[in-house]
Amino acid sequence: MFSKVQKNIEIMNAEGFAGMRKAGRNAASLLNHLSTMVKPGICTQDLDDAAVAWVKERGLINAPLGYGGPDNAFPRSICTSVNEVVCHGIPNKHEILKKGDIINIDVTPITDGYHGDTSRTIFVGEPSDEIRKLVETTELCLRKGIEVVKPGARLGDIGKAIEACAHARGYGVVKDFVGHGIGRRFHTPPQIAHYDNGDRTRIKAGMVFTIEPMINLGTWESEILDDGWTAITLDGKASAQFEHTMGVTEKGVEIFTLEEGVDYFA
Ligand code: MF3
Ligand code: CO
Ligand code: CO
Repeated sequence: MFSKVQKNIEIMNAEGFAGMRKAGRNAASLLNHLSTMVKPGICTQDLDDAAVAWVKERGLINAPLGYGGPDNAFPRSICTSVNEVVCHGIPNKHEILKKGDIINIDVTPITDGYHGDTSRTIFVGEPSDEIRKLVETTELCLRKGIEVVKPGARLGDIGKAIEACAHARGYGVVKDFVGHGIGRRFHTPPQIAHYDNGDRTRIKAGMVFTIEPMINLGTWESEILDDGWTAITLDGKASAQFEHTMGVTEKGVEIFTLEEGVDYFA
């Protein structure tokens, strides 16, 4: 059961932040690289192949491959979630992108032991107005969530801000998947809900976590396919997602998964 105050949250020191900074920048450049490949006619396996080649050239590791243990190991190196897929879509050679699709690419390369986890949703050709608004609002939801991160605020404030942003447009907020602590391990405490769950855990300098709202055109409900990973919306309508990895500073927040020199709020 969810506890209203979460425990066992790591506080990272300057060395940890330096490691996360490097890991985050690599994740951002991998995601940028894959994003430039998106066009009608490519298959999602092409993106996975490119991610494998990209980390190999740099001596890095893609955390998703084999993640989840022997019984339910994720079979690819990135997640690719198209249209009604909420998250954890599995790249494959039969899935060809076409005009009007949206695709979320989620990458987590490991650099010197540190994980950088980031994702974005990309248009394949020109989207409909309805889909454009969904995707733009989802990125806005992530920004709204990041904006409240500072020492003294509560983790529940993040989901509250995200939910308000999504509900203002009539969208559903996915509850079954959450942001998470991250560092030398992929998923650690705390869990970061993207809806208002009343989490009273105090945010402290040195905490490192992701925020990764999944916002649905229709119902918030999702289900997992028989492959054990692919999550889809219950009503088959589109879902979008954006994700950053960040660390809490004395002043507020440092977003690790930006390329050098990028100001996310500019
Ligand atoms: N990158 C996802 C996240 O944001 C997790 C993917 S788990 C995997 O937390 F096994 F599917 F890769
Ligand atoms: Co994540
Ligand atoms: Co991710």
